[in-house]
Order: sequence, then C-alpha cells, then structure tokens
Amino acid sequence: MVVVEGSNVRLRPIAPAERPTIRAWYLDPELVAPFDRFAVETDEEFERSLDTADGDPASLAPRFAIERRAPGDLVGVVGYYAPHPVLEFLDLWYVIGVPAARGHGLGREAVELLVDHLFGTESVERIGATCDVENAASYRLLEGIGFRREGTLRSALFHHSRWHDVYVYGLTRSERAPTRPRA
Ligand SMILES: CC(C)(COP(=O)(O)OP(=O)(O)OC[C@H]1O[C@@H](n2cnc3c(N)ncnc32)[C@H](O)[C@@H]1OP(=O)(O)O)[C@@H](O)C(=O)NCCC(=O)NCCS
Repeated sequence: MVVVEGSNVRLRPIAPAERPTIRAWYLDPELVAPFDRFAVETDEEFERSLDTADGDPASLAPRFAIERRAPGDLVGVVGYYAPHPVLEFLDLWYVIGVPAARGHGLGREAVELLVDHLFGTESVERIGATCDVENAASYRLLEGIGFRREGTLRSALFHHSRWHDVYVYGLTRSERAPTRPRA
C-alpha cells in the first residue's frame, strides 16, 4: 500500500467504502462546476475505472485519496494518467471535494506530494496539467508549485453547454528536483 505523507495531508489508497462519496462529488454540479466535468458518465463506468486503474497508465480514475491528517478525514482525490500514446509524460488532476476544506493549502500540498511521488517512481521528465482558463484556483495552485504555463488550447473542453479554452501547464524534473536524474 503506497502512502505519501505530508505535513497536513497524506495521499493513500481509496477505501471501497469511500467510493460512493467520491462518486457523489463527481455528480455534484457545485463542486466541479463551472470549470470542468469528470470523464465518467455512469456509476458502472466509475466502478470499472477504479477496479482497472492499476493496470492502465491512461486511466482517468482517481489514484489516491487526499486525507487531511487532522482529523483524519477524506477531503479529496488526485489522479494522473498518460495522455498521449507516443509522448512520454504524465498529466495530473486534483479535486478537493469538501468545500470547507478548500482555500487552506490542502490542494496545493496534495499536488506537491503527488508531483514528488511521480518524479520519484516514474521515469518521466515532465509532468503536465491542464485547466480551464477561468479556473483561477487551479492555475494558481499549479503556478505556486512551479508549473509553467506553456500555452492555451482553444475550445478544447465542452462543459456547461459551451466550449472552453484550456491552459496547458508543465513542470520538468530538473525544475522540480534537479538532483534526481532519470535512472
Ligand atoms: C482547484 C482546487 C483543488 C484548489 O484546492 P485548494 O485546497 O482550495 O487550493 P489551495 O488552498 O491549495 O490554494 C492554491 C492556490 O489557489 C488559490 N485559490 C484557492 N481558491 C481560490 C479561488 N476560489 N479563487 C481564486 N484563487 C483561489 C489560493 O490563493 C492559492 O494561490 P496562491 O498560492 O497564489 O495564494 C479546488 O478549488 C477544487 O477542488 N476545485 C474544483 C475541482 C477543480 O477545479 N480541479 C482542478 C481541475 S483542472
């Protein structure tokens, strides 16, 4: 069991009993709206994606629960996936599903833990992320960690009845951790 410890949060496997809570976050338009949509449409697809994620680098399933160390509750999830069949990098994503837990640095700490975990365990030189150009919390989180905005994908994401532009962000291993070359 992989657990990544931080000072205020830890990343740990998602317990089976937590799946309905996470699925409810997916379905709540207030939690992810107005900036995004999740890629699974049905309960069955959600369950299947969690069951098969370990063997599927491209899986969009959440990979870790974000647990707030005190009081030890589930506050969010993070995921990562290989978005391209040839290019070698991972994209990550993140949700703090408990509204009261937002704005306290937990999202940023969780993503930093994930970045360092991935650079420590995967032979990629680049970790990327994308976010709706209107999602200030998301891009400020990324920029606070050192991700660079590399461009804008125009009209790349359809949600809430219209097309949205999307920022592309990237962080290289040398920018994050210059002492860890590829093995
Ligand atoms: C994006 C998200 C994970 C941020 O998590 P969080 O724990 O609230 O963020 P943090 O407290 O770590 O703050 C990170 C940065 O965002 C800023 N921020 C937080 N909430 C904000 C808001 N509502 N509007 C603008 N900026 C905000 C913080 O000030 C901080 O920036 P700073 O370091 O420049 O001050 C959370 O808002 C969320 O779950 N949103 C819905 C899902 C989502 O959009 N996920 C990303 C998809 S790309």
